[in-house]
Amino acid sequence: MSEPTRVLIFDTTLRDGEQSPGCSMNLKEKLEVARMLESLRVDIIEAGFPIASPGDFEAVQAIAETIRNCTVAGLARSIEKDVERAGEAVAKAEHKRVHVFCATSEIHRTYKLKRAKEEIVRMSVESVRQAKQYTDDVEFSPEDASRTEWDFLVEIVTAVIEAGATTVNIPDTVGYAMPAEFGDLIRHLRAKVPNVDKAVISVHCHNDLGLAVANSLAAVRAGAGQVECTINGLGERAGNAALEEVVMALKTRRDFLDTDTNIDTTKIYPASRLVAGVTGSQVQRNKAIVGDNAFAHEAGVHQDGVLKRRETYEIMKPSDIGIPSGRLVLGKHSGRHALKERVEALGFSLSNEQLDEVFEKFKALADRKKEVFDADIEALIDQQMASVTEVWRLDALQTIAGSNAVATATVTLSNDEQSFTDAATGDGPIDAAYEAISRITGVRLALTDFALRALTGGKDAQGEVTIEVEHEGRRYRARGLSTDIVEASARAYLVAVNRVLTATNGGQSKPTTS
Ligand code: KIV
Ligand code: ZN
Repeated sequence: MSEPTRVLIFDTTLRDGEQSPGCSMNLKEKLEVARMLESLRVDIIEAGFPIASPGDFEAVQAIAETIRNCTVAGLARSIEKDVERAGEAVAKAEHKRVHVFCATSEIHRTYKLKRAKEEIVRMSVESVRQAKQYTDDVEFSPEDASRTEWDFLVEIVTAVIEAGATTVNIPDTVGYAMPAEFGDLIRHLRAKVPNVDKAVISVHCHNDLGLAVANSLAAVRAGAGQVECTINGLGERAGNAALEEVVMALKTRRDFLDTDTNIDTTKIYPASRLVAGVTGSQVQRNKAIVGDNAFAHEAGVHQDGVLKRRETYEIMKPSDIGIPSGRLVLGKHSGRHALKERVEALGFSLSNEQLDEVFEKFKALADRKKEVFDADIEALIDQQMASVTEVWRLDALQTIAGSNAVATATVTLSNDEQSFTDAATGDGPIDAAYEAISRITGVRLALTDFALRALTGGKDAQGEVTIEVEHEGRRYRARGLSTDIVEASARAYLVAVNRVLTATNGGQSKPTTS
């Protein structure tokens, strides 16, 4: 039997994913995610869009200096200054790539760029040539390719390969394509572009019609050699193709597609949890592969079948993607060594300092909660990895509430200099606590979303509160955990306040892409 063809996985969680509203990450978080992507063994990490802001440049540079086993890419428009910034940002990477893009569809040419076809070709070719001065590994994307005239696409793809592009990425920028049609487009390019064998054909699909993964797989079937995707399908609007779905489809249906990837699939679940933790963008319960219900069997007939033979209703094993067993693991008498072993079994690797901090929080939790489950430990790790600079810390919270009482919250917060206490009333204890926090910190946030769920079973389970807030036109997400749901709510709000206070771009608008 011949070896399956290897498809390259280009992860753009830190660029397209991070552009998703409310999902911006700080430098520390981006580095944590990049390290996780390296242990997941993605081939290429698109680390950001260096021209967008000094913070983006710094993040791409730091990732380029840290990551050794993946190619690190920086994105640029076909504009001289952009390409220069991207080239400089990835300069120190062990393996570096500059990714340039220029829109090609009629609607983008006419209304966005106001340029004729010849000018688009010229700009694209020039930017590819410029990028070649920084690295041999240059990718070009004709933005909105799926709505571009096919003959023009053939022309521009031929020209950029001639100019030195080693990867040509075909984006379905607005998620408009149908799988059969998108597969035909890739086949058409492979047949009509005379120098196509000098470049890898890549695809980048958005999920506006829920077809991003289907379109990516149709393209792989038609000969695409690289798929661009994001953890949890994060990305502009409805998101990008989900890495975990693409990878597990290729693995599970290798018999049909005859392709595979280099991904260590047992790191998929920890990567999903980490990205959900740092962005505060939780995965829906029934999300394929990584959702809470992805491996849950509710119907009696299904449970009966699985008990008789797992494969009757399961096409993948939870352990294939690193889902922890969910059994009771540790209690208040467990030591640091037991915790370390469990953390490693869950797919995380923590430094001694990080482990010390998680251990301290674990002990505090074990005091409040009899049984500590894998999900609790994961949440502690997520919080540790995603920790936002604590401008304000929650020292104490006391609330009074009841059907006939005016809800009141007394909150004590401290910063590096002082501690402050204030009390406020509200519609309920959470509203009152939020009011007291706003008064002390001077940061007033508009709450746009609030979700509460129990992290595990049991009456003493930790409550997980995820919120989305808006501040000066920018959205932020945050998460709080506690066995007390009012405290979890207050913690989430304080994380959001701290995010606002440490936001690197201070509300400056960034050039965006999708
Ligand atoms: O969706 C898109 O077209 C993009 C390009 C920059 C590749 O994100
Ligand atoms: Zn995109």
